[in-house]
Amino acid sequence: MTTMESLIGLVNRIQQACTKLGDYGGSDNNTFASLWEALPSVAVVGGQSSGKSSVLESIVGRDFLPRGSGIVTRRPLVLQLHKIDDGEKEYAEFLHRQGRKITDFAAVRHEIQEETDRVTGKTKQISPIPIHLSIYSPKVVNLTLIDLPGLTKVAVDGQPESTVEDIETMVRSYVEKPNCIILAISPANQDIATSDAIKLAREVDPSGERTFGVLTKLDLMDKGTNALDVLEGRSYRLQHPWVGIVNRSQADINKNVDMIIARRKEVEYFETSPDYGHLASKMGSVYLAKLLSQHLESVIRERIPSITSLINKSIEELESEMDHLGRPIAVDAGAQLYTILELCRKFERVFKEHLDGGRPGGDR
Ligand code: GDP
Ligand code: NA
Ligand code: MG
Repeated sequence: MTTMESLIGLVNRIQQACTKLGDYGGSDNNTFASLWEALPSVAVVGGQSSGKSSVLESIVGRDFLPRGSGIVTRRPLVLQLHKIDDGEKEYAEFLHRQGRKITDFAAVRHEIQEETDRVTGKTKQISPIPIHLSIYSPKVVNLTLIDLPGLTKVAVDGQPESTVEDIETMVRSYVEKPNCIILAISPANQDIATSDAIKLAREVDPSGERTFGVLTKLDLMDKGTNALDVLEGRSYRLQHPWVGIVNRSQADINKNVDMIIARRKEVEYFETSPDYGHLASKMGSVYLAKLLSQHLESVIRERIPSITSLINKSIEELESEMDHLGRPIAVDAGAQLYTILELCRKFERVFKEHLDGGRPGGDR
């Protein structure tokens, strides 16, 4: 791993430890909140069934999310990806089931469904209480992704009238944060002027500096039409280039078409397309993942000085907090604080090495 990767990885793990600590209810501590915010996260927004969960799965390169027509994602899913060394075994772990390492990704999907129902009942109700999931894999980049319920215009059977507004409020609470990178998903088979994702992104990020426009379902457009006006930035201009995507169709999902095969078919689609052939190298899920991680790296590079000073402040505060512990209830919290402290110290150390890097005789 490069130093940059390990610095991002450390911030990622500090975030995770802060999340675990939040579970003990003692987290109105500002240091933890700011540490959490130190690493940007990527929120996936768009209308219902626009392909949000599918895009997220493609970025991760695994099948593990409930997908389909109608309202499937009913609670926010905060997904932390942690890069581990090559050869180490890939696994997933839920915050609400700490210590249980899941290696079967179908079981991950099942648990997301169960955990959603546990809070909302088997109805179509939604809840703003996030599910926290971590995936450890040699194939991912250190990144926090958030899958959100789809924006809608009407409440469906069994949903309270307020649902439409509740979803928008929930999504907005994520995307209005200045460190949130917005993955705005619009389906190509609908007019971009009616895109819920673009409408919301334009409101919270008028300059378009933290919005990535993603156009899904290119394969479902009417014959004789294409999406070049959108993909080439003429319909709606953003600071980052638009990325076109072809995810698996519902028929592919029903047939269990493998993720790797689907990605290969996606590459082929662009390479052989008379409309998009000239853009092929800048289209597709693999390119999108690369684009996001490059952007993330440059954002973090800019923030390293402020992260470092935050971490120094945290070390002081954590040490004094540790001195005050001792109540029996705080045993677990104490362990978590200790973990954060250790991670912060490690961050400082790696950062110093990074600065000394390449300098012969640079002290350690
Ligand atoms: P979400 O509700 O926005 O999370 O959307 P999903 O990812 O659950 O996808 C909704 C439905 O659209 C599923 O049946 C997907 O198979 C299908 N779908 C998503 N993206 C594409 C695409 O690019 N092409 C085709 N043909 N179907 C897609
Ligand atoms: Na859906
Ligand atoms: Mg979804």
